[in-house]
Formats: sequence, structure tokens, C-alpha cells
Amino acid sequence: MSQNPPAKPTPPSLATLRAALERVETVETYGRVVAIRGLLVEVAGPVSAMRLGGRLDVEGVAGLIPCEVIGFQGERALAMPFGSLEGVRRGCPAFVRDEAAGAVRPSQGWLGRVIDALGRPVDGLGPLPQGPEIYPLRADPPPAHARRRVGTPLDLGVRCINTFLTMCAGQRMGIFAGSGVGKSVLLSMLARYTAADVAVIGLVGERGREVQEFLQDDLGAAGLARSVVVVATSDEPALMRRNAAYVTLSVAEHFRDQGARVLCMIDSITRFAMAQRDIGLAAGEPPTAKGYTPTVFSELPRLLERAGPGVGEGTISALFTVLVEGDDHNEPVADAVRGILDGHIVMERAIAERGRYPAINVLRSVSRTMPRSCDPAFLPVVRRARRVLATYSDMEELIRLGAYRAGSSAEVDEAVALMPDIEAFLGQGKEEATSIGEGYARLAQIVGAG
Ligand SMILES: Nc1ncnc2c1ncn2[C@@H]1O[C@H](COP(=O)(O)OP(=O)(O)O)[C@@H](O)[C@H]1O
Ligand SMILES: [Mg+2]
Repeated sequence: MSQNPPAKPTPPSLATLRAALERVETVETYGRVVAIRGLLVEVAGPVSAMRLGGRLDVEGVAGLIPCEVIGFQGERALAMPFGSLEGVRRGCPAFVRDEAAGAVRPSQGWLGRVIDALGRPVDGLGPLPQGPEIYPLRADPPPAHARRRVGTPLDLGVRCINTFLTMCAGQRMGIFAGSGVGKSVLLSMLARYTAADVAVIGLVGERGREVQEFLQDDLGAAGLARSVVVVATSDEPALMRRNAAYVTLSVAEHFRDQGARVLCMIDSITRFAMAQRDIGLAAGEPPTAKGYTPTVFSELPRLLERAGPGVGEGTISALFTVLVEGDDHNEPVADAVRGILDGHIVMERAIAERGRYPAINVLRSVSRTMPRSCDPAFLPVVRRARRVLATYSDMEELIRLGAYRAGSSAEVDEAVALMPDIEAFLGQGKEEATSIGEGYARLAQIVGAG
């Protein structure tokens, strides 16, 4: 047995030195809590060291509560907390951090994970591997002039959308629907069956029970494995609900920058707008349309424009759900969103009640890249199927009432004859996937290729 000579002390690596340096206490700048009004914390002190969107950590009894500066009034900064303010007193210190209130460092290891609006894991599966690059929550969209055009069709695995409402890589669409018409099931089908490389799903303002149902029953283990899910439930502070939407885009941007085709979905953009409204009202903004504040309508495009083609290979194709209760499609958020996106998919309760899922009304939905994105060979098929749907829809009431007499119109007779097959085509079970090619072939068979 030979004895090793005593090891020479190796000099510390640069990385270790850097890490040590980062731990060194520097001067701390802090103000003090002087008032709490509803959701708002007012902080006095070195206000000029604080900036809009910057972070403050308020010291509560149970530790530091991260807050974001959302405004200033007189000699005070107005901040909103990311957590409960329980136990915070007047005079508590509020430490000024030299960073934006939110940023994440996503990595490949985030696939299959569920995170919150601060980028922390909430699935009990241990720490998240951090990537080398910092993605700020409120990134700017890529410059319009440097962006690529919307790419080739993206197979979503759902035949109704694939054939009638083809979506291209980098396209952004809205899904307009009320509650309980099948949004969650549809999003989970898209996440599982799309040909995109990664799905990033933001669940904003849902109830906790719905989140679990979505993860376990709809998405399932296989769907989750190719997804990153960002969650802020309805009981979380407004800032968390709003930022969950930002984080969803930040994570999508990371995968896009890796060259991936990303499918980004946010359910729902309405709840994001509501969270922004609550923040705006707390900061003293005037309510305008339906109580929504002006920043809601400036934040919506800033968020939605971040999806789309990038400047490199990767793309973010996006679907944002918009809640339309009682068929009020002219509600201000729906209106604003429709103006920004490249198409909309309308889901209807009446169709869901008939038992046809996904309950998409094809005639009321449009993809603005059609017909350019459609294989010219299939254009006649789509046109013909749409015509049959339109003819049937015009006569539907009469047919249902039995007031239409067969033989009165050859066109209507044909529509009546074809409708059961088209309805069956539009319906799709949640465990079933259909590619673009298969979808067109099947539709062509139903309506006849001419
Ligand atoms: N593709 C489908 N096949 C069969 N049933 C469906 C389908 N999509 C939705 N459903 C039914 O509709 C219900 C509500 O769907 P869900 O996605 O939770 O609605 P939302 O998210 O819009 O509130 C589901 O529990 C399920 O019974
Ligand atoms: Mg749902």
C-alpha cells in the first residue's frame, strides 16, 4: 500500500470565487412600510432608489415577502405583494433589490414540471435545474422588422382545426368560449397531439381543483412529459395571476431560442386581464370599459405580441382562451384580443350540449392564414365542406322543426344527407389524434373530392 503525498491545495476556481463574492454582504438599501391599503403596500424612504417594476422584499413575521413596485405617489412607493401580507406591520423594513421583480432561468430540465409565477416548482419533485440565461418576465416582443414570416402548417392533431382552421408555426389564435364547453380538454389534446416540440401551458386564475383535474385527467403523464405548466390559481394574489402569463411566455421564449417549435397556451387571457385590472385599480388608475383600466389594454398587446415567429429558427405558436359568458363576444377584452391575434376559434355551448366535442363552430371561426396555408389540393375540399355547413346552418331551424320538405332544393337535400358524416368528422374523442393529412383525406371522402 502506498501513501499518497499530502494533496497540494488547489487554487479555487474562478466560478467558486465568483460565487463567494456574490454572497458577500453589501450595503442594503431599505425603506419602511408606512401604510397598507387593500392590496397595496406604501413604502417611504429612499424612494429614488426604487423603480417601476422593481422588486422590494418586505420583512414580515414569517420571512421576506417579495413585492413589485407598481407606482409612486408623493414621497412614497406603491408596491404589491406576491404573497400574503399577513403579519406585516407599520415600520417593517422593505429591502430594495437591484433587479426586476421577476425573471426566470428556464432549462431543458423544466420539461414535465409544474411551476408557479415566480418560477418555483409546485409539483413536489425537487428543485428545478436552472439554465444559464436570464429571461425577464416582461420581455419585449422581437422587433417587427427582424421577425420571420409565419411558417408552414403546424399539425395540432385535432382534425377540425387542422382542416378548417389550419394554424401555421408562429401563428397566434384566440379560443373564445364560455365555461364548461371543453376548453381544458381541447388544450390537453393539442398539447398531447401537436407536432410541435414543446408545449408551454399557463393556467391563470383557475380553481385549484380544476388545475389538478387538468394535470391528471386531461394532460396525463405523457402530455406533461413534453410540457411545462405554469399555474396561478384564483386564490393567489393578482400579481401572481398576472405574472403567470408573463412566465408562460418567458419559458416559451427560452425553448424558441433553442430552435424549438413551441406551442404556447394560456387559459385564460381574460383572467390575466382581470388581474391587471385589479393591479391598476389598486395603483389608482381610472376604470374605463367594464371596469377595465387603461393598462389592461396596453399590456394585452405587449403580452400577446411576444408569441409568434422569432428571429431565428424557433417559433412560438400560441392559443389564448378568452372567456365569453352569455355569448357576449363584444366584451372589451374579447374585442381587444380579437384585434391583436391572427384568427379565432369559437366554441359554443349549444354544440357541447348536443354532445359534440370539441364544440367548435367552424362557420364562426377563422384562421387568417387560410387559404394561403392550406395545401392547394385540399382547398376545394374545404370550400365544399364549408358550403355544406353554411347551407345546413341556414336551414337548420326549418329542418329541425320538420318544416323543410325534402326535394325542395337539391343543395339542401345534399347538406342534410352529408351532415351526419361531417358532424362525426368534427367530433373527436379526447384519446384520438388525427394528422393534417388523415383529416383532409377523410373529409375528402365525405364530401367528395370535387
Ligand atoms: N373531446 C371531448 N370528448 C368528450 N367529452 C368532452 C370532450 N371535451 C370536453 N368534454 C366534456 O366537457 C366537460 C367540460 O370540459 P372542460 O374542458 O373541463 O371545460 P372548460 O375547461 O371549458 O370549463 C368535460 O368534463 C367532458 O365531460
Ligand atoms: Mg377549464
